[in-house]
Amino acid sequence: MYEADIASVLISEDDIRRRTSELAEEVAARYPEGGPDGDLLLIGVLKGAIFFMTDFARALPIPAQMEFMAVSSYGSSTSSSGVVRILKDLDKDIEGRHVLIVEDIIDSGLTLSWLIRNLETRNPASLDVVTLLRKPEATKVEIDVEYIGFDIPNEFVVGYGLDYAERYRDLPYIGTLDPSVYGG
Ligand code: PRP
Ligand code: MN
Ligand code: MG
Repeated sequence: MYEADIASVLISEDDIRRRTSELAEEVAARYPEGGPDGDLLLIGVLKGAIFFMTDFARALPIPAQMEFMAVSSYGSSTSSSGVVRILKDLDKDIEGRHVLIVEDIIDSGLTLSWLIRNLETRNPASLDVVTLLRKPEATKVEIDVEYIGFDIPNEFVVGYGLDYAERYRDLPYIGTLDPSVYGG
């Protein structure tokens, strides 16, 4: 599937699974089990975080509730515009809740720093972030991220939720995109 467009497998399905359960154990050790309103609240950032969100939630050994927001900064380009739009907001109040944002990737950091500021105004009891991937070289904004799956080189990656022009999200692993695909 998509073979001709993928230059290399950067992170395999096995590596993703292994690291996801490590992160889940780490997170679970830090949050108490709270009962109905005290449960950890995962906020998945659509669409990129879909697969990480569902796998992470199932790897977590403590109860967690799930909500989703959809924001977009990239459009169909390969670099971040810095303009973040809410495409779908939360349906629920997060005041007093322990919130963990679940992201697929921090690239420039613009999406997440915007989202953190936005969610902080809603007065959660705590607010942290778990991201599967981070590109250290591309980070333009300093953000304090507690849980990071993998630091990756500054290459365009797709798969496991990450897209290029809405394609490749359904690849089960993280791969680098052949530059011929985006005319590089
Ligand atoms: C991608 C990715 C992150 C964000 C990271 O989302 O899923 O949410 O960009 O980039 P940044 O750190 O430079 O802001 P995108 O806006 O492409 O929307 P999508 O999740 O629907 O693909
Ligand atoms: Mn995204
Ligand atoms: Mg995208």
